[in-house]
Amino acid sequence: MQKRSIIRAAVAAALLGASALALAQDNVFKIGLILPMTGPFASTGKQIEAAAKLYMAQNGASVAGKKVELIVKDDTGTPDVTKRIAQELVVNDKVNVLAGFGLTPLALATAPIATQSKTPLVVMAAATSSITQASPFIVRTSFTLPQAAVGIADWAPKNGIKKVVTLVSDYGPGIDAEKYFKERLQFNGGQVVESLRVPLRNPDFAPFLQKVRDAKPDALFAFVPSGAGAALMKQFSERGLDKAGIRLIGTGDVTDDDILNSMGDVAVGVVTSHHYSAAHPSAVNKKFVEAFTKANGNLRPNFMAVGGYDGMRVIYEALKKTQGKGGGEALLDAMKGQIFESPRGPMFIDAQTRDVVHNIYIRKVEKKDGQLYNVEFDAIRDVKDPGKVK
Ligand code: DHB
Repeated sequence: MQKRSIIRAAVAAALLGASALALAQDNVFKIGLILPMTGPFASTGKQIEAAAKLYMAQNGASVAGKKVELIVKDDTGTPDVTKRIAQELVVNDKVNVLAGFGLTPLALATAPIATQSKTPLVVMAAATSSITQASPFIVRTSFTLPQAAVGIADWAPKNGIKKVVTLVSDYGPGIDAEKYFKERLQFNGGQVVESLRVPLRNPDFAPFLQKVRDAKPDALFAFVPSGAGAALMKQFSERGLDKAGIRLIGTGDVTDDDILNSMGDVAVGVVTSHHYSAAHPSAVNKKFVEAFTKANGNLRPNFMAVGGYDGMRVIYEALKKTQGKGGGEALLDAMKGQIFESPRGPMFIDAQTRDVVHNIYIRKVEKKDGQLYNVEFDAIRDVKDPGKVK
C-alpha cells in the first residue's frame, strides 16, 4: 500500500515536471538563425548574427510574455547542410521561425521544409528574385537584384555610359542582375556588348577583365556577392582598366560597406545602386551604425546587417501581434504588410509577394575623413521587385 502510494506520488511528480517543462517550452519563442559563419561567405554570417544580437539587446529578449531564444547555426554556405540544419531545428528544437540564408542556393534548398512544416522562413540575405516563390512561407527582408540593377541602368546612359560589358557571378542573383540591367539599359538606348559570367567560388577575374579591356566599353557593370568586391576592384586596377578610361558601375554588392575601406583609392568615384549605405543620412541609420560599430569592435554594418536587423524586427512585431497564438500561419500573416522605417529608409513587406519594397539609392564612393563611403545622391522611391511586376 505504502509502496503503491509512493509510486503514485512519483508518477504525479513526473507528470508535474513534464507539464512544467511543457509550459516552460511554451513560453519560449525560438528563432533558428542559419548562416555561413565559416567559409568564403563568413562575413555575411558575421554581419547578420551581430545585427540580430544588437536588435535583441536593444529590444529585450522577452516579447508577449515569451522568452526569445536565438539559435545560431553555421551552414558553411553549403545547401545540403542548410537543409539538414533546418530539418533538425524544426523537428528537434521546434523552432517557431527559420531565418538567415546567406546565399540563394541555401534559401532554395530549405524552402520545402518551410512549406511542409508551415514554419515562416525569413530571408535576410539571399536576393534572387524567384526565392519568395519557392514557398508561401518565405518573407524577405534583404533585397532583390532586379531592384538594385535597374537603378544603375537608368543612371548610366544619362551620364555618358552607352556601351557596357557585364560581369556577374554565375548563379541566381548574378543572372538576375545581368538580365535586368541589360533589358533596362537597352530600353534607355544603351547597349550591352558582351556578357561575362565568373564562377561563384574562388573566381579569378583576370582573364575576364582582359576581355573587358579588349572590348573597350564605356563601363563595366558588375555583380559579385558580398565579400568578393575587393578582389574584383584590385584586379580591375591591376589590369589598368581604370587607366584605359573604362568606368566601373554595379549593384552595391561590389562596393560593400564591410570591405570598402580596404579597396583603396581605386574605388573612389565608383557609382552603384543599392538599398543600403552605412552613410544613409537619417537619424535612424546614424543610431544604428553607431550602436553596431560600438558593439562589434568598430566593424561597419553593411547591407547584410540591415537585412538581419530588419528581419528581427519583422519577427518581433509579428510575435507581438499574435501573442504567440495561431502557430506558423498566424505568425506569417502578421509579417505580411508590415511597414516601418529601417536604417535603409522606408520599408514595406508587400502582403501579396511577401517581398521587400524600399528605395533604391544611386551612390558614389567618396572619401570623408580618410574613410571611404557610398554617398547617396539620388533615390528611386518605393521600388517593388521588377522580377514580379508583370
Ligand atoms: C546573394 C548573396 C550576396 O552576398 C549578395 O551580395 C547578393 C545576393 C545571393 O546569394 O542571393
